[in-house]
Amino acid sequence: MTSTSTRRRHVLDLDDFSQAEITEVIETTASMKEVLGRSIKQVPALRSKTVVNMFFEESTRTRISFELAAKALSANVVTMSAKGSSVEKGESLLDTMRTLQALGADLIVMRHGEAGAPYYLAEHFNGSVINAGDGRHAHPTQALLDLFTIHERLGQIEGLKVVIVGDILHSRVARSNIWGLTIMGAQVTLCAPPTLLGPPGFWLATWPSLIITSDLAAALAGADVVMTLRLQNERQQAGLLPSLREYSRLFGISAARMALAAPHAIVMHPGPINEGVEIMPDVASSAQSVITDQVTNGVAVRMALLYRLAGG
Ligand code: CP
Repeated sequence: MTSTSTRRRHVLDLDDFSQAEITEVIETTASMKEVLGRSIKQVPALRSKTVVNMFFEESTRTRISFELAAKALSANVVTMSAKGSSVEKGESLLDTMRTLQALGADLIVMRHGEAGAPYYLAEHFNGSVINAGDGRHAHPTQALLDLFTIHERLGQIEGLKVVIVGDILHSRVARSNIWGLTIMGAQVTLCAPPTLLGPPGFWLATWPSLIITSDLAAALAGADVVMTLRLQNERQQAGLLPSLREYSRLFGISAARMALAAPHAIVMHPGPINEGVEIMPDVASSAQSVITDQVTNGVAVRMALLYRLAGG
C-alpha cells in the first residue's frame, strides 16, 4: 500500500490498486531484483512465516516463481495441488483452508479454475491471500511483472501505446493488465478477431479509454509494447476460429508485423507460448522480445508482494 495509507492484506486483482501503490511495488521489485543478483540470494524478511501455494490448476512459471520468491525471503514454503490432497476425497475449499490455517499458514497463494475462488478464501482466512490466477477473471501478479518489465525496458509506463493481441475475451492476463496499464496511464488497444474480443461495449463500460479493433496493422502502428496472449486450442474446437493456421495468418505476430510498431518496441507473452500461432519463433527469440525477462522478473515481483503483505 502507499506509505500514506493502510497496509494491504490481500492481492486479488489490480482494480483496487492506485498508481502510487503500483509504483511502490515496482520500486520494491527493483530492490528484490538486487537481492537476487547477490551471491547469497536470500534475506531473512519472512523468517518464521509460512507460505502455502495452493495450485488447483496447472502452472509452471507462477508456481515455481512463488516458491523461489518465498524461499529467497526465508519463509517456510509448502506447495499443494488438488491431486494427491484430501480435495480428491471431497474436502471442501473452506475445510482445506481451515486445515492450512490450523497448520500455521500465514499467506496463501492460490490458483484455481473458478473465478472468484481466491476472494472466497480471503473472506474466511485469517492471513493474506494472493490470487495466482482465477478462471478467466484475474492474474494480478502476472500483470505486475509485466508492468515491471515494461518499466525496466522502456523507463516509463505512462503515455505508452500498448497493444494486447489475441484471445482477450477469455484471458485473465489481459483483464489484469488492462487494469494495471490504464491505472498507470498507458493507452491500451485491444486487438483480436471479433469472436475473441466480444462486444466493444463490454470493455468500454469499465474502461472507456480503451481502443478496440480487429485491424491488426492499424493497432500495431507506432506501438511501444505488443503484448501477445496464448491461444487455447479449445477456441478452435468451440468454433471461435476457422483454424489455428488462419488465426496465425491474420493475427500472428511476425517480424513484418513488428516492423509496424515503433523501432524501440518490445514484444511480450505471459507463456506458455504456442510458437508459430500467436507469435512467430524468430520474434519470440528476437532482441525485441522480453519474454525471458518476464519469467525472471516474476520471482522479484512475487518477493515484493510477499514482503509487502507480510508488513515489510
Ligand atoms: N503465465 C503463467 O501464468 O504461466 P503458468 O501457467 O506457467 O504459471
